[in-house]
Amino acid sequence: MRYVRFLKPPRLVVDKGSKPQISCLITITSDLGDSFLPYDVELAAELLSLHQTEEIVVWRTVQWKAGMRSLPITFPLTKNLKAQKFRLRVGGEPKSTYDDYGKMSGEATCGVVSVWSQEFSPSEATAAAKLVDRCFNLMDGHVICISEETGESIARHLWDAGITLSCHISELLKGGSPLAEALLPTSRPNQLRILELGTGCGMVGMTLAHLIADTNVLLTDLPEAQEIVEHNISQTKLAKGSTLKFQTLDWDEDLPQDLRSSRSPLHLVVAADCTYNADSSPALVQTLKRLCNVSPQARVAIAMKMRHSSEEVFFDLMAGAEFIKLTTLEYPLPGDVEIGEETVFLHVYQYKPSI
Ligand SMILES: C[S@@+](CC[C@H](N)C(=O)[O-])C[C@H]1O[C@@H](n2cnc3c(N)ncnc32)[C@H](O)[C@@H]1O
Repeated sequence: MRYVRFLKPPRLVVDKGSKPQISCLITITSDLGDSFLPYDVELAAELLSLHQTEEIVVWRTVQWKAGMRSLPITFPLTKNLKAQKFRLRVGGEPKSTYDDYGKMSGEATCGVVSVWSQEFSPSEATAAAKLVDRCFNLMDGHVICISEETGESIARHLWDAGITLSCHISELLKGGSPLAEALLPTSRPNQLRILELGTGCGMVGMTLAHLIADTNVLLTDLPEAQEIVEHNISQTKLAKGSTLKFQTLDWDEDLPQDLRSSRSPLHLVVAADCTYNADSSPALVQTLKRLCNVSPQARVAIAMKMRHSSEEVFFDLMAGAEFIKLTTLEYPLPGDVEIGEETVFLHVYQYKPSI
């Protein structure tokens, strides 16, 4: 997957001797930002008026070519546009209000994740804030939109494994699906309790609380993630009887007091893209062990895209901490050069301490 990103967010540009225009600069990179989209793709750039309902008022196609590192996009500012407020969307599929993970592998979009800018107004010469939205179709009638920052923070943007796991969570609603069997094996309790570690922007936990009724989801991360997660929580429509909260939880520290009690045990602990830094794996595994000492029945689901062989230390640490691997599910990422070259793996564990 590759993400459309604003190197310069949309804004009014008035150059001497030329007409005013709305302008931005985009790039299309991997989640880590370490590679650019290596294909030719035609993109739709759409100005969405926020006048009453959001609708496309001007649109154009732009061509991304393999080998490019950035691409400017401009729209002439006609009189009727001056007084309006806009968002700008740039993506593969024209006129779409969300990305459909299942269709992103197609040749037309090549795994490109669309971007929606924040609101901006040419008349006030304000640039869109350095926050963008991504929107995904989770299942029929369920679309989730999530904000991320455009900067370099690891916690405050989206990652392949989190999106991939989120876009498969609707399978939990189908009894007998491999995902349901792996994550929720026993008869369902009245209230399901799920904790997410290293939630980042919160997408996995938000999706769980949006799709699954009667579920308490606790998102956790370092304090630097708190502001963006709480913004995203405030935008999330919850399933009936479900709750969604954030709490700071640093793997390098002991569990917060309220998570040390076994009165309300967890049924599931999830983490997506949290194993990319082998140096953090001992603390992550230690945190999983602490959580499972309190909730020994919990399933542990770790979604990862292997980026480097050093990450394999995570598996040894899990075995050493007495976690038994029950199953691994594989999700090839959309937009691979060869299918399966880049894959998100979901490793599911059960804690089985020796007596
Ligand atoms: C690559 S991001 C993945 C974010 C999110 N799960 C996703 O898939 O989009 C890794 C996350 O782990 C968190 N993290 C790293 N070290 C941590 C620690 N010691 N304690 C808690 N969270 C940590 C980071 O803040 C970041 O949000």
